[in-house]
Amino acid sequence: QLGQLLLSFFILGLHQIHFTSNLSRASIFFDSTAMEGTSVEVPPYFLCPISLEIMRDPVTLATGITYDRCSIERWLSDGHATCPVTQQKLTDADREATPNHTLRRLTQAWCALHAVERFPTPRPPLDTCHVAEIVEEGRGAGLQQELAALREIKAIVDESDRNRRCVEATPGAVEFLVSVVNNYATNNSASKSAEDLSELSLDSPTSTSSPEEEALSVICSLKPSKKSLVRILEENVNFLDTLVCMLRRPSYRSRCYGILLLKAMVSVMEPARLMAVRTEVVLEVVRVVSDRVSAKAVKAALHVLCRLCPWGRNRVKAVEAGAMTVLVELLLDEGGRHPTELAVVAIDHLCGCAEGRSDLVAHPAGLAIMAKKAMRVSLTTTESAVRALHAVARHSPTPAVLQEMLAVGVVAKLLLVLQVDAGERARAKAKELLKMHARVWKDSPCLQVHLKAYYPC
Ligand SMILES: *[C@@H]1O[C@H](CO)[C@@H](O)[C@H](O)[C@H]1NC(C)=O
Ligand SMILES: *[C@@H]1O[C@H](CO)[C@@H](O)[C@H](O)[C@H]1NC(C)=O
Ligand SMILES: *[C@@H]1O[C@H](CO)[C@@H](O)[C@H](O)[C@H]1NC(C)=O
Repeated sequence: QLGQLLLSFFILGLHQIHFTSNLSRASIFFDSTAMEGTSVEVPPYFLCPISLEIMRDPVTLATGITYDRCSIERWLSDGHATCPVTQQKLTDADREATPNHTLRRLTQAWCALHAVERFPTPRPPLDTCHVAEIVEEGRGAGLQQELAALREIKAIVDESDRNRRCVEATPGAVEFLVSVVNNYATNNSASKSAEDLSELSLDSPTSTSSPEEEALSVICSLKPSKKSLVRILEENVNFLDTLVCMLRRPSYRSRCYGILLLKAMVSVMEPARLMAVRTEVVLEVVRVVSDRVSAKAVKAALHVLCRLCPWGRNRVKAVEAGAMTVLVELLLDEGGRHPTELAVVAIDHLCGCAEGRSDLVAHPAGLAIMAKKAMRVSLTTTESAVRALHAVARHSPTPAVLQEMLAVGVVAKLLLVLQVDAGERARAKAKELLKMHARVWKDSPCLQVHLKAYYPC
């Protein structure tokens, strides 16, 4: 109630200023809030309880507590469902805070008076009706209108997290974006009239992108929830084929956004759908890695590979697309700073099939790079590298392979894994493997003498 009291005093003070211009009276009022020297003490009821800064857009919750809009929205979007001050639970309806215009006007007046910092009256927050209008204007209205709508949605989405969620929640918005990608991605770009294209680049010299590329980028920025992703897949049975078309484009942006969205899609797909993924999809994913489209794109592609490989014949499809060679070369590419762990995990997956193991052995640096990465990267990397080597040495232990393992340091690395804290599973696999081929390796003149002492058994 003290706050209330102060507020009414303050309103009184303001009235004095407004109606009598009696500044000395106002200064008496402000003296009580310590306005000495250069530092101005801001009345506490102007401060947001979360950010402790002056509220630019004060909103009051159902609990009666006022916060700055951006603070409370961040709090709620972080998954909290309480009023931070009172700890009261908020229902879904309570989450919509009411703008406190009175307090905002008082704050603005106070700031102006003290030359603290003038700030503009905040725009009313975006609502789904506005987004729905933009979508309605763009839908099926021709290339120019579609592009205009896409740009407008993109600007909205890029502005804030709240806007992003608002667009995602607008009925028909995600569908519109997906339909633009679907409609244009599969058409040969030559089928677009040349007139349209030249007009486009004249209109906006900075952006030469096509509607499908623009729509794809907006979908990526939306970071759709699992629910939205599942719905896109349900309503667009051939959406992965659409993404393949985008990945086949020469455009860097198409391929980047395409692989990022594919990563999101496979992360929500059921095993049955993952098993049925077409060879073309796997092929394009491998091509993203081999072309080093970008660091982010390569990382996303490796995630996709690791997600696909355990299911059905995806491993074989990947190996047939040349994945093993591409991954080994990626690991050899020292300067590239590519995600080593993901690449080793993917190789481990590929070693689950005979084709993968034979490709690893066939690459001149295959076994050597796995030995090298078996230590000093991460526990996961060690485990995956040891498991891949284990698979090779167990399923295709030709004399040549076993000799190469000695020569390129695989055996020495396995002995080292036993010595250090490399995780239980990696140690168990290493030990099993060393015992398996003890006859060939233990007394070999190729093994350095000091290592022989560590040989288990
Ligand atoms: C302003 O207020 C003070 C203190 O209340 C008073 O003495 C003074 O006469 C007032 N001046 C004007 C111009 O109203
Ligand atoms: C505005 O905020 C003040 C201070 O927190 C509060 O006392 C007042 O009830 C709020 N007004 C509305 C309409 O919520
Ligand atoms: C793409 O193809 C679809 C179906 O054939 C057609 O309806 C649409 O107008 C085409 N779009 C462009 C830009 O050519």
